[in-house]
Amino acid sequence: MNAHVLVTGGAGYIGSHACKALRAAGFVPVTFDNLVTGWKDAVKFGPFEQGDLLEKSRLAEVFAKYSPVAVMHFAALSQVGESMSEPGRYWRNNVLGSLNLIEAAAEAGCLNFVFSSTCATYGEQDNVLLDEDSAQLPINAYGSSKRAIEEILENFGHSAGMQSVIFRYFNVAGADPEGEVGEFHRPETHLVPIILEAIDGKRPELTIFGTDYDTPDGTCIRDYVHVCDLVDAHVLGLRWLLDGRGTRVFNLGTGTGFSVREVMDASGVVTNRPVPWEEGPRRAGDCTRLVSGSTRARVELGWSPGRSTLQEMIADAWRWHQSGHYEG
Ligand code: UFG
Repeated sequence: MNAHVLVTGGAGYIGSHACKALRAAGFVPVTFDNLVTGWKDAVKFGPFEQGDLLEKSRLAEVFAKYSPVAVMHFAALSQVGESMSEPGRYWRNNVLGSLNLIEAAAEAGCLNFVFSSTCATYGEQDNVLLDEDSAQLPINAYGSSKRAIEEILENFGHSAGMQSVIFRYFNVAGADPEGEVGEFHRPETHLVPIILEAIDGKRPELTIFGTDYDTPDGTCIRDYVHVCDLVDAHVLGLRWLLDGRGTRVFNLGTGTGFSVREVMDASGVVTNRPVPWEEGPRRAGDCTRLVSGSTRARVELGWSPGRSTLQEMIADAWRWHQSGHYEG
C-alpha cells in the first residue's frame, strides 16, 4: 500500500502543487485544511479532511485514521503586510497551530516533518546573499512566527526525536503547467498575480510599494522560484527524512534577484500587453533585498530548479490566470 503523507494547507497554492507532486512520486497526500484561504476544488490528488490546527483532538483523529509516515506543513497565514497590522492572528494561528500539529504528530509517533519556513526569518541584511547560517533577524510578525516554529521543531527534535526538513522559501510564483492547480488568493497580495490582474483589467493598476529603496531602480529585490521546482524539493526532502538522514535546513531560492520593476517589465513582454502601474509608498515589513546565496539544496538534495526563469514562471501563471479559477 502507498504511504500516506499528511499535508496541512493542501487546499492552498503551494500545498495543492505539493499534493500533485507527492501523488506522482507514489505517496497518498491527505489534505488537512480549514478552507479559510484554501479551495476545496484544489484538493484533487488524495483524501480531504477539513479541520483546523487549533483543534488538537481533530488532528489526533486524523493521525489515527491514516498513520502517515510524515507531515508536510504548509498551512499558515502568510502575508507580510497583514502580519504587521494583525500580529495576534499570526502568533495564534501559525505558532499555536503548529505547536498543536507537532505535538499531535509526536504523540502519534509520526516523527518526519517537512516544514514551510521562509526567508522572511532572515530580515533586513542588505547586499548580503543569504545562506542557511545567516543570522535570523525577522522584521515582521510573519517571519517571527515562522522562526518560532523552527525553534519548536528543534526542541521536539531533542525531546521526542522529531526529524525535520525546514525549507526557507524565497518568493514562490508560477503554476502547474498542466493547469490542474494554480495560485488563487482572495484578496490577492502577491506581486505576479497582481501584475497579471492589472494587465487583464481585473484591477486598475499595479501599485509599486516603494521606489526609494537602495537598489539600482529603487524597488525591492526578490529571488523568485517556480512553485513546481519548490514542491519537487519537498519530495526530495521527504525522501531525505525517510532515508534517515536527519534534521536539516535548506534555502529554496535560485540565487538571482529581480526588482519589482523587472518583474513588471518581464510580465509585459511575456503577455505582450502593457502593465498599468503607479508608484506608491513603501509597505510596512518589506525588506529591501532577499536573495538566496546557498547551493545546499542543489548539492545535498540534488535539487535542480529547472523551471525557475522569470519568463517561465510568468507564462505558467498567465496561462492559469486566463483559464479561470476555483469555485469553492
Ligand atoms: N509588491 C508591490 N506591489 C504589490 C504587491 C507586491 O510592489 O501590489 C512588491 C512588494 O513590496 C515586494 C515584492 O513586490 O517588494 C514581492 O511582494 P509579495 O507580496 O509578492 O511577496 P513578499 O516578498 O512580501 O512575501 C512573499 C510571501 C511570503 C514569503 C516571502 C519571502 O508572501 O510568504 O515572499 O520573501 F515568506
